[in-house]
Amino acid sequence: MHTLPKGSINSMGLPNEGLDYYLDFVLQDQANRPGTTNFLSVAGTSLEDNLSMLHQIQDSAYTGFVELNLSCPNVPGHPQVGYDFDRVKTVLTAVFDFYTKPLGVKLPPYFDLVHFDQIADILNQFPLTFVNSINSIGNGLVIDLMPKKL
Ligand SMILES: Cc1cc2nc3c(=O)[nH]c(=O)nc-3n(C[C@H](O)[C@H](O)[C@H](O)COP(=O)(O)O)c2cc1C
Repeated sequence: MHTLPKGSINSMGLPNEGLDYYLDFVLQDQANRPGTTNFLSVAGTSLEDNLSMLHQIQDSAYTGFVELNLSCPNVPGHPQVGYDFDRVKTVLTAVFDFYTKPLGVKLPPYFDLVHFDQIADILNQFPLTFVNSINSIGNGLVIDLMPKKL
């Protein structure tokens, strides 16, 4: 990640402490601040990983929002799920087979009008509570027009 005068550019997933840590955090927060809610964002490295985390959340006392991140670009050799429409449907079918708490998805940016229609058509088939768009635009480039003289 690099900070810039008007923002930042990054090529990283936010390092984090893992689900156990943050589930414990939101459960404590839920107890300490009744009436408020949290967004717990999860991104697994495989479908099994995502389902396992969502089972853990489903079986917990957490009642807040969960964001399933379909825009996780960090698995070498695989496109992010959000760019594989058949896979999105497979993932959401498996998730809503058992998950009943408020759940939304985080999407990558789309650039073609046909893709807007295709992803909307799939998302509308599921009882999503929210849709979070968008993750950072990929393949960004920052050019310093006034480089320092060497
Ligand atoms: C250093 C850094 C790390 C990020 N890591 C993640 C991440 O692990 N997962 C994710 O979904 N988004 C990640 N993002 C994206 C943000 O969550 C957010 O969606 C994005 O920055 C908003 O779009 P914008 O950068 O175009 O304003 C990261 C952003 C930054 C700056």
